[in-house]
Amino acid sequence: MITQQIPHATTVSALRTRVRTWREDRLSVGFVPTMGALHDGHLSLVRLAKAQCDRVVTSIFVNPKQFAPGEDLDAYPRTLIDDAEKLTDAKCDLIYLPTPEVMYPDGFTANLALKGPALGLEAAIRPHFFDGVATVVAKLFNQVRPDMAFFGEKDYQQLLVIRQMVKDLDFPVEILAGETGRDTDGLALSSRNAYLDAGQRVRAGQLNHILKAFAAALTAGTDLKTARGEALAAATAAFDAVDYVEARCATSLAELGDGILDGPARVLAAVRLGSTRLIDNMAAKPPS
Ligand code: PAF
Repeated sequence: MITQQIPHATTVSALRTRVRTWREDRLSVGFVPTMGALHDGHLSLVRLAKAQCDRVVTSIFVNPKQFAPGEDLDAYPRTLIDDAEKLTDAKCDLIYLPTPEVMYPDGFTANLALKGPALGLEAAIRPHFFDGVATVVAKLFNQVRPDMAFFGEKDYQQLLVIRQMVKDLDFPVEILAGETGRDTDGLALSSRNAYLDAGQRVRAGQLNHILKAFAAALTAGTDLKTARGEALAAATAAFDAVDYVEARCATSLAELGDGILDGPARVLAAVRLGSTRLIDNMAAKPPS
């Protein structure tokens, strides 16, 4: 259990009671959804939310619907005491800790399936993933009813899927993105980095360099087929397996063909070190 002074709610009614008092005082509400195991990337989203909104709710819920059988649901790091301390330091106003029964009571049937940015890339490898994310985030938005919600660019496809969901379903919430937090060698911060052993951790640092070189080649006018081939070869040499290395339209994630970039793009990759999956992405500008 949490011992710190930071308030927490485990039910929708307790959450809403707290949020209602803020609303009565005309305070704006920011929301940072997480699965816990908080690192500085999450905390920078909380700080961003604090800068934009009067009050901030952070949820911690390891969402079973976004894990397929055989994925790391049981092993996913759960560090609640530590998380609560970090959220207290980051001046979060309320932690929302729903149980699986609160989120998915007996008889729950909904499944939110999107197309557009939800197709391909992560979805090609983890077909269940964005249905699970969209379904839980839709529920969380309805429970918290925030004015603004904050998502990291580290999960760039997820960010675009949430923007699409908000647009398609008219959720009255503004989505703001936080830049990817990085370690000193550039590795994108992720709760799953905790799975890496010392040797894997050193190798993991190459992913962002490979993507940087990919983005720089595109901006220098190298055609997409050549630049992608080079990035794929580098990733194949550096990692145990490569799920994808791609460049896509920055706003829709549509495929771009093989030629020279003519608009803003995003380079994205997913690779494996042992059983750990790493993802990363960054912006790629067209040649000027
Ligand atoms: O990015 C995450 O941690 C999760 O996918 C999210 C948005 C909290 C939904 O479970």
